[in-house]
Amino acid sequence: MSTEIPTAVICGLGTCLPPRVLSNEDVRRRGVLDTTDEWIRSRTGIARRRQADNGTSTGDLAVAAGRAAEASARAHADLVLVATTTPDRRCPATAPEVAHRLGLGTIPAFDLAAVCSGFLYGITVATALLRTGVCARPLVIGAEKYSSIVDPLDRDTAVIFGDGAGAVLLRPGVRSEPGAIAGVDWGADGAGSDLIAITAGGSRQSDTSRRLCREDRYFRMQGREVYGHAVRRMTASSLAVLGQVGWQPGTVEAFIGHQANQRILDSVADRVGIAPRHRYGNIRDVGNTAAASIPLAMADTATHNRVRPGSRTLLTAFGGGLTWGAIALRWPSAVPGARDPEPRTTDTTPHPTHRRKQQWKPSTTTS
Ligand code: UT7
Repeated sequence: MSTEIPTAVICGLGTCLPPRVLSNEDVRRRGVLDTTDEWIRSRTGIARRRQADNGTSTGDLAVAAGRAAEASARAHADLVLVATTTPDRRCPATAPEVAHRLGLGTIPAFDLAAVCSGFLYGITVATALLRTGVCARPLVIGAEKYSSIVDPLDRDTAVIFGDGAGAVLLRPGVRSEPGAIAGVDWGADGAGSDLIAITAGGSRQSDTSRRLCREDRYFRMQGREVYGHAVRRMTASSLAVLGQVGWQPGTVEAFIGHQANQRILDSVADRVGIAPRHRYGNIRDVGNTAAASIPLAMADTATHNRVRPGSRTLLTAFGGGLTWGAIALRWPSAVPGARDPEPRTTDTTPHPTHRRKQQWKPSTTTS
């Protein structure tokens, strides 16, 4: 019997990107923004992003990514966690309906709100639940429809954010195998809660107020200040997790940071000591997809076979809250799946009551 420390192992990866591509010029024209393609590319690294259409929700993207992750792992989830800033509704959480639409019956399902750090927070929570035996196959989904909260007239945010979803399925395993989570570091500082925020719509300021102004209704970010926090926090968290697992920065073969801004990512990687050839991401093509950004970048990297399974990998994220985190893991061997957004249908076909003990079968239904 193995004496290795048990942990969670990524055994499935899935994504969903809405088909509509918005170029920098499209964004500029839509909001009549005082910006240029050249400015956006050189200051953020973003050339285009995806935008979901009006009929597509965060839950639709999450279902498609979750289904693709299950197919990639050839296994069904026994817990669903959706990390998102853009839930389908303020109440209830999006995850229970996602689990239902995945045909997973009555398994536990909940949302996690940590803005752009949501996916890393989700992996941290799922790993802890798995290690204590609460679940065996948690499905962690980062899904966002930022186009539903970003003000097209605000050039600070409109040029950055995009829509999409990414998901991983975890199973129990040991720390030496591909996909294994080796260590986590996370933190939060509510003193900076106003730096990234939607002011109205919560209990503090209802969005039924007649006086609601544009400034309060939409997502706002104090970009320059956030930039400094992001670099400092992701650097410190990365070094903390590497110290925890005893990996020298020079031995990390794959680095993926939250796809917020290419300049932030380069600063963090330089400070941590990760060589440029070990840095991966897809910010140029999808922009900042908040909680979806790390699984989308991982799947893109895995699809192109850029990293050898088992390689030492460092993930780090920073977001509203303020929240941040870093995870050390072995690069997974899972082959990523991708699906198109799945429309919510009114199909009343009874869904399986509980698939926890069922064998994996490819699923073809869309509700
Ligand atoms: O995902 C969660 C965490 N989010 C982040 O980590 C994002 C953090 N922030 C950023 O990525 C960057 O701060 C932005 C992309 C939002 C802004 O880039 P920046 O390099 O920090 O610009 P800045 O605010 O320092 O402004 C530099 C100049 C200013 O002009 P002056 O004062 O030098 O004449 C701005 O008015 O760039 C101007 N500017 C723009 N120009 C064209 C700011 N935004 C734009 C724009 N287009 N979209």
